[in-house]
Amino acid sequence: MGVDKLKLAIFISGRGSNMLSIIKACKSANFPAEIALVLSNHPDAKGLIIAQNEGIPTEVVDHKGYDRRENFEAEISSRLTKYDLDLIILAGFMRILTANFVEQWPRRMINIHPSLLPDYKGLNTHQRAINDGKAEGGCNVHYVTPDLDSGPVILQKRVSILPDDTAATLSDRVLEQEHIAYPEAIEIIAKTL
Ligand code: GRF
Repeated sequence: MGVDKLKLAIFISGRGSNMLSIIKACKSANFPAEIALVLSNHPDAKGLIIAQNEGIPTEVVDHKGYDRRENFEAEISSRLTKYDLDLIILAGFMRILTANFVEQWPRRMINIHPSLLPDYKGLNTHQRAINDGKAEGGCNVHYVTPDLDSGPVILQKRVSILPDDTAATLSDRVLEQEHIAYPEAIEIIAKTL
């Protein structure tokens, strides 16, 4: 009823299942956001095909074409100016962004990370949690700050780690929670912006 929806850019590098969970959420009339753009650093990311089939504009900025991270990010920033964006969503985007880029989007860039932060920042989160005998794993949606996987947490979902879990089985169960968490986090943010 006259309330503008948040305009999202989703950054991906691969299969894009979290992106798809947000696409589905955006189909609900009451969801407070819409996707303006999906951007990938991999030209062959499977998620790009999903986005294109949904009629969502896509951009590819292949990091391999840039010898400096700053130049890669400058090209991303240039592409973003074509869209009227409110929020950047990192959804399996596997490039570390510099402080210079992150600081252009204060409280306007969020990430999903598959561990119970502050534990297990970085990669191989599920195997590390299993190796340490943890009882629980999970995921968080958090604001992006210059320190990797360290920004304020918006919400967290927890799952039990079962005795016979492998990194793959735990990852599957956490991913189900990620797909719930990301749309919920966007709804939370929409109330604050
Ligand atoms: C997810 O597990 C996410 O937490 C991590 O990368 C994975 C991306 O999966 N950052 P997808 O591309 O969204 O399917």
